[in-house]
Amino acid sequence: MTAPKLGFFDSSSDPIHPSPCPETCLRTTTMSDTHPTYETKGMLFRRLGPSGLRVPLFSLGGWLTLGGSVIGDPVKEIIKTAFENGINMFDTAEDYEKGNSEREMGRAIKELNLRRTDLVISTKIFWGPRDGPNDKGLSRKHIIEGTQESLARLQLTYVDVIFAHRCDITVPMEEIVRAFNYVIEKGWARFNLAFYWGTSEWTAQQIEEAHHVATKLNLIAPIAEQCKHNMLYRERPEKEYASLYKKYGLGTTAFSALAAGMLTGKYNDGIPEGSRFATVEMFKSRAATLASAEGLAEIAKVKEITKIAHSLDSTPTALALAWVAKNPNTSTVILGASSPQQLLENLKALEVLPKMTDEVMEQIEKVLDNKPEPHPTYGRPELDRFGRA
Ligand SMILES: NC(=O)c1ccc[n+]([C@@H]2O[C@H](COP(=O)([O-])OP(=O)(O)OC[C@H]3O[C@@H](n4cnc5c(N)ncnc54)[C@H](OP(=O)(O)O)[C@@H]3O)[C@@H](O)[C@H]2O)c1
Repeated sequence: MTAPKLGFFDSSSDPIHPSPCPETCLRTTTMSDTHPTYETKGMLFRRLGPSGLRVPLFSLGGWLTLGGSVIGDPVKEIIKTAFENGINMFDTAEDYEKGNSEREMGRAIKELNLRRTDLVISTKIFWGPRDGPNDKGLSRKHIIEGTQESLARLQLTYVDVIFAHRCDITVPMEEIVRAFNYVIEKGWARFNLAFYWGTSEWTAQQIEEAHHVATKLNLIAPIAEQCKHNMLYRERPEKEYASLYKKYGLGTTAFSALAAGMLTGKYNDGIPEGSRFATVEMFKSRAATLASAEGLAEIAKVKEITKIAHSLDSTPTALALAWVAKNPNTSTVILGASSPQQLLENLKALEVLPKMTDEVMEQIEKVLDNKPEPHPTYGRPELDRFGRA
C-alpha cells in the first residue's frame, strides 16, 4: 500500500471509517522533500486566545469566495499567494457553498502539496449541507458526524481549530461541551479530529456558560470567538466580550473586517458590477441601505478614513484591516479576497500597522465616533487584565 501523505486523508476510504491509521500517516510521509517551504515573510504571529497555538495576524477565509465565486485553479492561485506571503491559516465551514468551500480548499492545499504541520486550518460546524433533523445544530451526533464529513471534504485527518458556528439553544450546554471535547480528545481512528475548539457569534452569556460547564466537568473550554469586528461594528467585540478577554484570555478570529468591502471605499459612488453587494442575494438589502441617511453617513466616514490612510501613504482597505489587527484581543483577522490582487492589497495592512500611533488612533476614533461606552464602574478605577489600576 502506498503511504498516504502527512496529515492528509486517504480519500479512497470511507470518510466515516477510514482505514489508514493517521498516527502512521505522521510517520510515513514520502513527500517531505517536495513540500514548498513556508516562510513568514514579515507576517506577525499571536497566540490564539489563551492557547499555545500561534496564528498569523492575517489569515484567509473562504466564505462566498473559495468554492463560491472562485472555483478551480483560481482558488489555488489565491491560496498559493496567501502561503507565499506568510499566511498559513485558512478558515472555512461545513455550510460554505454546501461544503464546496471545504472541498476546494482541501483540493488546493493538496495540489499545492503544502506541508500539513505548516498550516493552521479551521472549520465550523452548525449548518450541515443536508436538511435532515440531525444534519444541523450542535447535538453530539451532528458535531461528531459533521466534523468527520468536513474532514473528508477537506481531505485532512484533523483540523487545528473547530468552531461552533452559532450556539444551539435547543441542545444542553453540557452535551455541546462534551461533544467538542470528544472531538479533541477521543477523535476518530485513534487520532484527534481537532486540537482546539471555539465559538462563533455566541453571546457573552453563552460563552460564560460553556466555561462554567467545562470548569465543573474538568473539560477543555473554548479558546476563541469568531466574531464580526470592523470600524463600523464594535459593540459586541469591544463591549459585550470585554470581561471574557480579561477572565479567560479569550481571543478573537475577527471576520468581515472590511464590512464586506464597504471599508475599501468601493461602494462610495455606487455599486460596482461583479462586487459582493451586486451579486450576492443576501447583500441586496444591505446594498439598498447605501442611499439611506445611515448609509450616506457610513460612506462619509469611509471618505474621512481614506484621508487618514493617504496621510500614512496607505489605503482605507489596509488601514481598516490594521485597525482590527491592532486590537490586543484580536488573535487573527480573517481576510476575504476574490482574487490574489485583493489579497496582496489587503496584506499592506502589515505596512501601515506600525504607523498607527496613539495620535492616529485618536484621529480615527474621532471620525468613527462609535466607541462603545465601557460597562460602568460607578466611580471605581478601571483595572487591566492583571488587576492593576
Ligand atoms: N463565523 C462567521 O459567522 C463568519 C461570517 C462571515 C465571515 N467569516 C469568515 O471571515 C472571512 C472574511 O469575511 P468577509 O469575506 O466578510 O470579509 P471582508 O474582508 O469584510 O469582505 C471580503 C470581501 O470584500 C471584497 N474585498 C476584499 N478585499 C478587497 C480589496 N482589496 N478591494 C476591493 N474589494 C475587496 C471582496 O468582495 P467582492 O470582490 O466580491 O466585492 C471580498 O470577498 C470569511 O471568508 C470567513 O472565513 C465568518
